[in-house]
Amino acid sequence: MKLIIILAAALGLVPAPVKHTPEKDGTSFKEAVAQLEPWQQEEAYRITFYEKRIKVEALTPQGRFRAQKTLEQLELLGERPEGTIFDYPRLRHRGLMLDESRSFHGIEFLKKQIDAMALLKLNVLHLHLDDSAGWRLESESYPDLTALTAWRMGYTYHEWEAGRYQFAKADTPGASGGYYTKAQMKELVAYAAGRYITIIPEIEMPGHSMEVGYAYPQVLCELPDGRLHTGAWDLCPGNEATYRLLEAVLKEVMEVFPSPLIHIGGDEATMKTWSQCVNCARRMQEEGYTEVKQLQGYLVRRIERFVAANGRRIIGWDEILETGVPQNAVVQSWRGSSGGVRASAQGHDVIMSPNTHCYFNYYQDLIRKEPKAVGELVSLRFAYGYEPLASGMDANHLLGVQANLWTELIPTSEHAEYMLYPRLLALAETAWTPASAKEYKGFRKRARALVDVLRARGYNTFDMDTESDLARSGLQRFPPEGVPIPIDD
Ligand code: ACM
Ligand code: ZN
Repeated sequence: MKLIIILAAALGLVPAPVKHTPEKDGTSFKEAVAQLEPWQQEEAYRITFYEKRIKVEALTPQGRFRAQKTLEQLELLGERPEGTIFDYPRLRHRGLMLDESRSFHGIEFLKKQIDAMALLKLNVLHLHLDDSAGWRLESESYPDLTALTAWRMGYTYHEWEAGRYQFAKADTPGASGGYYTKAQMKELVAYAAGRYITIIPEIEMPGHSMEVGYAYPQVLCELPDGRLHTGAWDLCPGNEATYRLLEAVLKEVMEVFPSPLIHIGGDEATMKTWSQCVNCARRMQEEGYTEVKQLQGYLVRRIERFVAANGRRIIGWDEILETGVPQNAVVQSWRGSSGGVRASAQGHDVIMSPNTHCYFNYYQDLIRKEPKAVGELVSLRFAYGYEPLASGMDANHLLGVQANLWTELIPTSEHAEYMLYPRLLALAETAWTPASAKEYKGFRKRARALVDVLRARGYNTFDMDTESDLARSGLQRFPPEGVPIPIDD
């Protein structure tokens, strides 16, 4: 039987398979994968459709799993192709970040999103496990992190903010919140691993950490008269108590999460209290620093050494580039793409999650028809158009691409899913499929069909049928009054 190599778009897959033509008919699977990077070989598969049977070839159980998901998609979309699919990923890190601090969703929600990620061949779930709005992971060495900050007065982040950031205990009447036990997280790690998804934990530092200072005031900056900077959003980088806490917590985190990469945050430290603190002043003097921001570099480098000594590698948001960090650190570009370009030029591996395209807490359609969100318009079409290899970036340092869902304005699981789907399908296709094989019209058709599948499986999705002309156009910004919106799909 003569085999036909099937074109991605004709198949209707999300993500679409890579088209690959073997040099001659009869090319063995081993020969076909030999040209791929080792990490691609692990995920590569070939499916051959005969009249009465299907043959799946892969080098690893992971490759077999990816093939299964393609077959599942085909079945869901009612497709029964002929010929051969030879498929492998474009990028090795295909991720989603969920912010469990601002809004706590719980273990069943996470499992459900892992199931959807597996269907889309995503392979990294990044959990933002702490922020000023609450610490969400059990710690035996610092139990007050959860005992004192995992609950708060105010169901939504903004209710909590309006009430002047009141934390509570689990049994406080009217409190909301929660946290994950280590046992739950170990179970989740195994659940994800069974679907070839790695969970990367993030412990945020030194900014976005008000809750840590609330539970353990010894990590706060200290004024010359001995008073502590209560309520500060940054940890004190001058104080040894800060490192004792962070290292103890990270040790526990590394026991729960086998991920080779550990996220240490690093974004948006206000640095306001550092210039008034006796411990920061002493540290600056010892290190010969002239600017307080050098303290951020000190903290990140010290934590990097600790994490590396435990056999892992850090990821930090792109601010970590500004104050010096070893080349081994992975940089996650979020303030647009420029951080990623700079990081790769300095030899860092990079994960691209620019707010311009990959922040799915941004509006996906007109402000007047959507729940309150932030940012510019990141419509499905605009998100799909994202090319992670920014101009000037070294492709060898592009580890991957990631969607981020910050949840200040997203209190419920249903709302979170509404923001994720179908935009996560666009991200998944960008991560898996070569840029040259992407094509929006075909994608939209596949996405529309898969949205129905997701809905039937109980996911709450954005309604693609009511998408506005502006969102359909793929424009990022509202055009000036009177300027027609181009529609071509
Ligand atoms: C971020 O959005 N602050 C990483
Ligand atoms: Zn300090």
